[in-house]
Amino acid sequence: MDTQVINGVELAAEIRLQILDKVKILKKTTGIIPGLSVILVGNDPASNVYVKSKQKAAMEIGMNAVDYLLPETVKDSDVIQLIKNLNSDESVHGILVQLPLPENLSKTKIIDSIDPNKDVDGLHTLNMGKLMTGRQIFPPATPYGIQKILLSAGVSVSSKHVVVLGRSEIVGKPISLLMSQKGVMGDATVTVCHSKTRNIESITNQADILIAAIGMPNFVTGSMVKDGVVVIDVGINRVVDAQNRRGYKLVGDVFFEEVSKKASVITPVPGGVGPMTIAMLLENTFKSASISSL
Ligand code: GUN
Repeated sequence: MDTQVINGVELAAEIRLQILDKVKILKKTTGIIPGLSVILVGNDPASNVYVKSKQKAAMEIGMNAVDYLLPETVKDSDVIQLIKNLNSDESVHGILVQLPLPENLSKTKIIDSIDPNKDVDGLHTLNMGKLMTGRQIFPPATPYGIQKILLSAGVSVSSKHVVVLGRSEIVGKPISLLMSQKGVMGDATVTVCHSKTRNIESITNQADILIAAIGMPNFVTGSMVKDGVVVIDVGINRVVDAQNRRGYKLVGDVFFEEVSKKASVITPVPGGVGPMTIAMLLENTFKSASISSL
């Protein structure tokens, strides 16, 4: 099988360059510089890395990016007050609260305090509702990145059987909605599998396109997919690796060595979906800034 391994790093870099050009034009014509605020509560090492990468990527394309690092001991009301200040700050076009939040905080209350017009992560209840009806302004970044990958690989989704592993609010639910919607990058038949699904292998074997987003290292093996399948691996799992100087390595939800032998298209981990998520977040931030100029 001739397998196309997606280079998410390259694709994301291309998209960021396109946004850079659009940022320049926006600045020149309106004086507006897109502003992104990222809030991180606590010091989860992986979240720290994500937040730093988001800031770096935003700055590189001429946006203003500010990180707010809050201690784990903050209360809901502290985070909500910060968000209210950012909501009323005209120089801020995108607000993102890095997830997961510490257990003592209310994710729903915090996310829903973000102005829906600045919710570039697309996670506010109102924006989730809009997604349900196909009227979303900001598609959640990871599902949006997956759509871009499929588009760039020339994979049509229409009439395909898409099997989604995982029902998270950030990936599983929104991608299944987007792909079953009418229209471009939609019109698929979607099956969502999760921890209570029986005979999962019999379902994954029917997939024309398999999207793995369950957070279980190497879960999808070669026997679980059919020849020619398109595989999108959303998992980013740290597994112990004594050979690595960090003591761990990143692997996806898909056992790449086995599955890539059968797949027609596959995304690697790292270097597949991950970089695209950041690029699409920047796209949403640009969109928010340009809407604010109208
Ligand atoms: N944690 C992992 N991925 C994401 C994301 O796309 N958005 C936010 N806010 N947190 C995340």
